[in-house]
Amino acid sequence: MEIKAIRGFNDILPEEIGKWHFVENTARDIFESFGFSELRIPVIERTELFARGIGEATDIVEKEMYTFTDKGGNSLTLRPEATASMARAYLEHQMYSFDPVAKVYFIGPMFRYERPQKGRYRQFYQIDAEVFGVDNPMVDAEVIVMLMHFLRKVGLQTLELQINSLGCRECRPRYREELKRFFEKTSFQLCEDCQRRLQTNPLRILDCKVESCQESIANAPKVIDFICSDCKEHFTRVKEYLQMTGVKYDVNPNMVRGLDYYTRTCFEVVSYDLGSQNAVTGGGRYDNLFQEIGGLDIPGIGFAVGMERLISLLPKDRTFARHPHLFVATLGDEASKEAYRLANELHLRGICAELDYEGKSLKSQMRRADKLNASYVLILGGDELKQGKAVLRNMGDKSQEEVPIKDLVTILQSKLPRL
Ligand code: HAM
Repeated sequence: MEIKAIRGFNDILPEEIGKWHFVENTARDIFESFGFSELRIPVIERTELFARGIGEATDIVEKEMYTFTDKGGNSLTLRPEATASMARAYLEHQMYSFDPVAKVYFIGPMFRYERPQKGRYRQFYQIDAEVFGVDNPMVDAEVIVMLMHFLRKVGLQTLELQINSLGCRECRPRYREELKRFFEKTSFQLCEDCQRRLQTNPLRILDCKVESCQESIANAPKVIDFICSDCKEHFTRVKEYLQMTGVKYDVNPNMVRGLDYYTRTCFEVVSYDLGSQNAVTGGGRYDNLFQEIGGLDIPGIGFAVGMERLISLLPKDRTFARHPHLFVATLGDEASKEAYRLANELHLRGICAELDYEGKSLKSQMRRADKLNASYVLILGGDELKQGKAVLRNMGDKSQEEVPIKDLVTILQSKLPRL
């Protein structure tokens, strides 16, 4: 029987990879100009890191983790997100002793056992950026500005940045109680999941998309009316800093996020072109995460961009695929040997050359060159080859010229703008 990939796990094919490279390279360039460095984390961590970091009462920890016991009896989990791992690495390597402020990013796959659908997979890629060690609202705005700059730079236009404040350890419990009291009064209207959330995590009810829950949610108390004066001040300043840089936002008082570590600022970027899974990015501040995972009192803020969703929004009129610069078409054995020598020389000079390995007719080689979208074809054979010459055909305007083979590299370098 043919073996297929697991549901929710995707191959990224060569014809698609140009988009991925473009997005990754743009992220690296922009993040590094904002002072971020790459921090690579392992695919697997101790389960406890996510259970304590993300929160036991979250959907991720309750139902979505790929957890297994290894041969040594340890409970391990494929990372469902990067923030907890990056915070662990910061603590483990005492990065704070070099500089208390760390700006780090990571690009890689995450794993969640969710029900696969368009825009929701079991293995999906994130571009993640975090700042550890600063609680100044200036950094909240800086991170958001970097994110929006990145999203615009890759070509996304119709995006909405939504922000909210979730308060802190001091003020959130009061809001939680208020919310619980409110939803208890209308609990008969809530869906089954929200009945459970009412006991475990009432804030998550605000995120529910079920229609009957939506009716209750519309009248629910808003977190912004319950946060303490310090949190209010923090939020006001984040908004001021955003306004200074011209980044537009909407305050969404019902945004709660799906991970428990958030405090104060949280944000999402949504695109209405995405359908039901419309969040391209989620992020926020997490000033208690480091304490939860057993360390010091260190604040942090960051975001993660879902790469599959981002890539599905890239402008359709741009091409990202790479094509051969040259196809070397040959007539006869001597020409075929020369093509091998020539292609090797071109490869070493950074020119992508493709050739025929199967002794196909010239016509069928030309068809293949066309299919591969080669910019030029070099036709090698016959008398010209004996004289050290060949015909170079421009596949765009179909013009042809005879060129000395020894000058081919220089000629191509002058014709191909990106070399
Ligand atoms: P998150 O909201 O769980 O946050 O995920 C961030 C983004 O990852 C989402 O907005 C979405 O684009 C993408 N995503 C999530 N789940 C899936 C899935 N099953 N399939 C496809 N894409 C998905 C976090 O992960 C936090 N760690 C973000 C963060 C970083 N907060 C602070 N720092």
